[in-house]
Amino acid sequence: MTSQTESLNLPEKYPLALRILHWSMAVCFLGLFVIGFIMVDLDKEDTLRPTLFALHKSFGVLTIILLALRISVRLREALPAPQIGLSEQELHYAALAHKALYGLMIIVPLAGWAHSNFHGRDVKFFGIPLPKLFPTLDGIGNWTGDIHGYLAYGLLALVSLHIAGVIKHRFVDHNDVLRRML
Ligand code: HEM
Ligand code: HEM
Repeated sequence: MTSQTESLNLPEKYPLALRILHWSMAVCFLGLFVIGFIMVDLDKEDTLRPTLFALHKSFGVLTIILLALRISVRLREALPAPQIGLSEQELHYAALAHKALYGLMIIVPLAGWAHSNFHGRDVKFFGIPLPKLFPTLDGIGNWTGDIHGYLAYGLLALVSLHIAGVIKHRFVDHNDVLRRML
């Protein structure tokens, strides 16, 4: 009785601030993947290379700032009640996937930042120099960049699963979770 009453008082959608942050961050991630894939394949002499690296780092840092805002909104505002019609198991896996997405949204940009600092390179946010968070480690090699890349691919795989889940709920199960984020 009480839990039903409580859930009736909960909003139908995610808070507006969280919806705006969700979609603006999704656009940032898309841009980061595209720029990331292109920039690593450019010739060292290509003049576009430093511009794309600087853009990639700036947007990467932007995701950290937006994520901090997103977590603070999430902790303060009421979230919608679990979607009606989903099984316990589906709710469990969706919650797990959201936690893993948050984990990777923190780790991936930090790994990129660490890779840059380990190689003695600074990180700027649209031209503003940011503090060096990690020490320079001479002769460390490029494995740190590979790790950042693999983690980014992991995030991409998880995002693909996330989108597949949303599509399945909308078109197969007719259980429209998308409404909650629009
Ligand atoms: C969530 C945010 C981020 C995503 C999704 C992302 C994604 C990627 C991807 C897909 C690549 C190409 C990997 C490859 O194919 O080898 C890449 C490379 C790179 N990223 Fe990011 N990145 C993010 C944040 C950052 C940040 C914040 C920094 C630095 C402050 C950064 C620095 C780099 C660097 C230096 C490379 C080149 C690595 C190398 O030379 O092997 N990234 N990133
Ligand atoms: C076209 C792309 C995307 C679509 C259609 C989409 C759709 C949705 C929908 C419908 C929900 C609500 C699910 C529910 O209430 O059960 C949701 C939540 C969520 N999405 Fe996405 N999403 C997309 C991209 C992304 C990306 C790129 C990320 C992160 C890298 C992400 C992370 C999350 C997280 C963490 C949640 C849980 C709610 C929260 O705490 O913010 N989504 N998404």
